Amino acid sequence: MHKILVAVDLSTHSLKTVEYVGKIVVGSKEFKIELFSVIKEVSRQLISKEEARRAESIFEERPEIAGRYWRRKDEDEVLKFFHQCIKALAELEVDRGLIKASFVPWKGDIATAILEEAKRRGFGTVALGRRGLSVVEEFFIGSVSKKVVKEAQDLTVWVVG
Ligand SMILES: Nc1ncnc2c1ncn2[C@@H]1O[C@H](COP(=O)(O)OP(=O)(O)OP(=O)(O)O)[C@@H](O)[C@H]1O
Ligand SMILES: [Mg+2]
Repeated sequence: MHKILVAVDLSTHSLKTVEYVGKIVVGSKEFKIELFSVIKEVSRQLISKEEARRAESIFEERPEIAGRYWRRKDEDEVLKFFHQCIKALAELEVDRGLIKASFVPWKGDIATAILEEAKRRGFGTVALGRRGLSVVEEFFIGSVSKKVVKEAQDLTVWVVG
């Protein structure tokens, strides 16, 4: 079984990447896909009590993010995007049972978060878009993709686009 971590950032490049991966794996029982997004970690003081409580309610089932906080709005946006991606995969007839989605709140460098997740959870392949949300088009490849390609060890990296 190949596990593919598809890093997504709410951009159309990301959606295209998800569709590309879907087209490749459709019909195969040898692949599993996980959509993965890194969202902004914020200090507890910056969010409402309800937001903090909401974050704390999932610490038990997700111990690796215990003690980290994020905005509910950022979570809602990412969940909505996951939903959009899953719909696109369903249209390609990718088996729903082979798709998962998760996010992590993270303070530092996004590429490091992606690589750590891949390592921690034993993914053999990471897929990313060549570009992401940034409108600055002066570089051929975004900084996150570039860093993942450069630093990936024991990992296959697909850069789509
Ligand atoms: N926050 C994130 N969470 C998960 N994956 C991400 C995130 N940000 C970027 N990526 C992945 O990296 C790909 C390329 O995005 P990247 O951020 O490198 O380019 P960019 O936004 O065009 O430029 P830059 O951010 O360097 O100004 C995206 O298509 C996505 O696959
Ligand atoms: Mg970016």
